[in-house]
Amino acid sequence: MDFAAIVATMNPAMVVVTASDGAQRSGCLVGFHSQCSIERPRYCVWISTLNHTHRVAKSSSHLAIHVLDERDGALARLFGGATGDEVDKFARCSWRPGPGGVPILDGCRAGFVGRCVERLDALGDHDGFVLAPDEGWLDGGLTPLRLGEVADVPAGHPAPHGDESV
Ligand SMILES: Cc1cc2nc3c(=O)[nH]c(=O)nc-3n(C[C@H](O)[C@H](O)[C@H](O)COP(=O)(O)O)c2cc1C
Repeated sequence: MDFAAIVATMNPAMVVVTASDGAQRSGCLVGFHSQCSIERPRYCVWISTLNHTHRVAKSSSHLAIHVLDERDGALARLFGGATGDEVDKFARCSWRPGPGGVPILDGCRAGFVGRCVERLDALGDHDGFVLAPDEGWLDGGLTPLRLGEVADVPAGHPAPHGDESV
């Protein structure tokens, strides 16, 4: 079974998740994300345990979710193709501090800041960060940048390989 190919047919919209723990800022491109509750609004983003963003997000009170437009390819390449272990991504883009100091990227037309309420260890290589939305913005229409348009970007932190047992 080609699990990756089957999942890729869903062609998810891409987001950039940013974090700040007070000492460091971080952020990465994410395709694993979804709303996960309605009446008590909750959103979950799944971040690789290898990523610089994971280390910072663990100690962050808030994360910001930036919905990328199809014109935001450069941001997708910056946040998905480079790692905060080697590069200060925030010196290469325009941003401002939001709640809890979380970086808000200028120019993203839709997004929200969520308070971190839970971290889920799914016994895989990504942890789920569950967010309670605090504040957001929506500036007109947007055509989402989808996985198929950035799937050729080499991830700054290659995905872990190894034990694939379930
Ligand atoms: C198309 C694409 C989708 C990605 N989806 C995710 C994801 O859902 N979760 C994740 O943790 N990393 C994902 N990544 C990988 C990170 O964005 C990438 O490794 C990034 O360089 C990590 O940066 P950091 O080490 O500064 O956190 C994706 C990368 C690409 C190119």
